[in-house]
Amino acid sequence: MNRVILPGSTIGLLGSGQLGRMTALAARRMGYRVHTFSPGEDTPTGQVADLEITAEYEDLDAIRAFAKGVQVITFEFENVSTEAAAAAAEIVPVRPHGSALHVTQQRSREKGFLADHGFPVTPCEGVHTLDELAVALGRIGVPAIVKTAAFGYDGKGQHRVASIEDADRVWGLVGHQEAIVERVVDFSLELSVVAARGLDGTFAHFGVIENEHRNHILDLSVSPARVPDDVAAEAISIARAVVEQLDYVGVLCVEFFLTRNGRLLVNEIAPRPHNSGHLTFDACVTSQFEQQVRAVCGLPLGATTQMRPAAMVNLLGELWTDGEPDWGGALALPDVKLHLYGKPDPRPRRKMGHVTALADTVEGAVEMAVAARALLA
Ligand SMILES: Nc1ncnc2c1ncn2[C@@H]1O[C@H](COP(=O)(O)OP(=O)(O)O)[C@@H](O)[C@H]1O
Ligand SMILES: [Mg+2]
Repeated sequence: MNRVILPGSTIGLLGSGQLGRMTALAARRMGYRVHTFSPGEDTPTGQVADLEITAEYEDLDAIRAFAKGVQVITFEFENVSTEAAAAAAEIVPVRPHGSALHVTQQRSREKGFLADHGFPVTPCEGVHTLDELAVALGRIGVPAIVKTAAFGYDGKGQHRVASIEDADRVWGLVGHQEAIVERVVDFSLELSVVAARGLDGTFAHFGVIENEHRNHILDLSVSPARVPDDVAAEAISIARAVVEQLDYVGVLCVEFFLTRNGRLLVNEIAPRPHNSGHLTFDACVTSQFEQQVRAVCGLPLGATTQMRPAAMVNLLGELWTDGEPDWGGALALPDVKLHLYGKPDPRPRRKMGHVTALADTVEGAVEMAVAARALLA
């Protein structure tokens, strides 16, 4: 089913968060209609879509009914079940296909895929019981991080273990479910490559992006990353090999650690546009969101040329502690772009929006993005 889905058609999005919102905005600009499906109401995506369907992802009849109203389905939420992706695929093309989702939505499967294909990964082990956790910690060493195998994002379900005696407490926090144990990587930088593969196999990428996390949540992204050319080339070639091995169609992000001795390790794969690629919306000829629309619709990929150095900072719920932030203050900086996701409830650690700053140098962009956020507080 290598059909091209032309503007005027309807794209179905499983999931309804900010990634869907920005994908929908890009799609609508190109003349597509957008339907979104999730358990939520008045969602970030629903607010800008033509139609918002509220149902559970497990409701396969609702998924099939949704699929009948659209010409192609993609997702912005990687924890949609493979059954749901398969039910949709009975009716319309699902891009990327459900098996890419299956591999990447569960950490042990994803690590297995990466290791089996020879990609460099963090030393890790899957565990199902407290005893297995204790044994794995003995082998991997401490400090380590225990991560639930499924449904993790923004550091949710992650716990640092300082000593083997800590295993009991952490197993309680993990909630006695399948988990992976990873050695804490002593990295000098975190990097990501947002890449895309078209229906015809064409590859495109947005270069290497430098990322800083705070409390396991992305805080700052900078593009282009300040890394040697050979590191950048290797990261891009790994991203290319990942999309090719997965026979992927759409946008995907590979997150990396750059160790202090200059080695790249793959941290994880996100089968969708990624927070670190938000700066492409303002800084590149084609954004990661438009690229996703082009790829899943079978259109030619767009140029990823970056027009100016850029930095992005996330705006989390904490920013609302003393009331509504001072938007006007930050927007007085003319090279700052504000993005808000329409979420009514600013809970701590919740991603509410981001700002992107453009400048002549990456240092200037970082300085301005950070200054803009400081003006909001
Ligand atoms: N093994 C590790 N060593 C060092 N830092 C880590 C490790 N695993 C996770 N982190 C930190 O936590 C962040 C989020 O972890 P990640 O595995 O990417 O989960 P999520 O799915 O929540 O993004 C990483 O970007 C990194 O900053
Ligand atoms: Mg991550």
